[in-house]
Amino acid sequence: MKVKQQLADMWDRQHRCPDGIVGWLVGERMGRQHRPETTWTVDLLDIQPTDTVLEIGFGAGQGIKLAAAQACEGHVMGIDLSEDMVRVARRRNAQAARAGRVMLSQGSITALPFEDQQFDKIMTIHTVYFWSESLQAFSELYRVLKPGGRAVITLCTGKINERGEVEVWSSFQSMLEERVIPGMQQVGFKDVRQERGPDSRQYTNVAVIGEK
Ligand SMILES: C[S@@+](CC[C@H](N)C(=O)[O-])C[C@H]1O[C@@H](n2cnc3c(N)ncnc32)[C@H](O)[C@@H]1O
Repeated sequence: MKVKQQLADMWDRQHRCPDGIVGWLVGERMGRQHRPETTWTVDLLDIQPTDTVLEIGFGAGQGIKLAAAQACEGHVMGIDLSEDMVRVARRRNAQAARAGRVMLSQGSITALPFEDQQFDKIMTIHTVYFWSESLQAFSELYRVLKPGGRAVITLCTGKINERGEVEVWSSFQSMLEERVIPGMQQVGFKDVRQERGPDSRQYTNVAVIGEK
């Protein structure tokens, strides 16, 4: 039981802030597993060629790559808590980084190292679960977004069971309804709405979209 609990804790820690060899494996695996919701989230942003885009918690950098392909005359920046993920994602986006179109650094959502109103579009995928100071995080998103810009927060809220039915996870559903949507509205986002995304493996995904 103790070993099982230790493994579960290690697994949680590696998803919260992947590090070392295990972190690299976890990051790559997440990148593959999260491809459907990552592609969908990038599409929701409606990225224009000259846009400046921010991704928070980019993990292995798949979303950064997709965004950079669409913002082909613009810039894509990223912040992740894990130094190791910054290294992995930089390698994955080396060409665009050399061209000065992709810039990735270590940091946290709660204190973004950017000026006010810098980004046209912001996305974050499977990270909101880890934000301890979520109101501060939503304020930071709002602060760095340009007027007219859009932010998308994608999260998992449940699972498809063996009978093909959706099993809603109550703690994640309440995070969506009681923290994410009201939090975004409270800091000033307009037209805050949720959209059901593609199922990814056996998990269901929802995005919360807000405009500034
Ligand atoms: C579950 S992984 C998701 C990675 C990627 N978005 C994906 O879907 O594959 C969470 C990522 O968010 C990062 N992260 C966690 N807390 C963060 C914070 N407060 N600020 C920035 N990044 C954070 C972690 O380092 C990790 O790379």
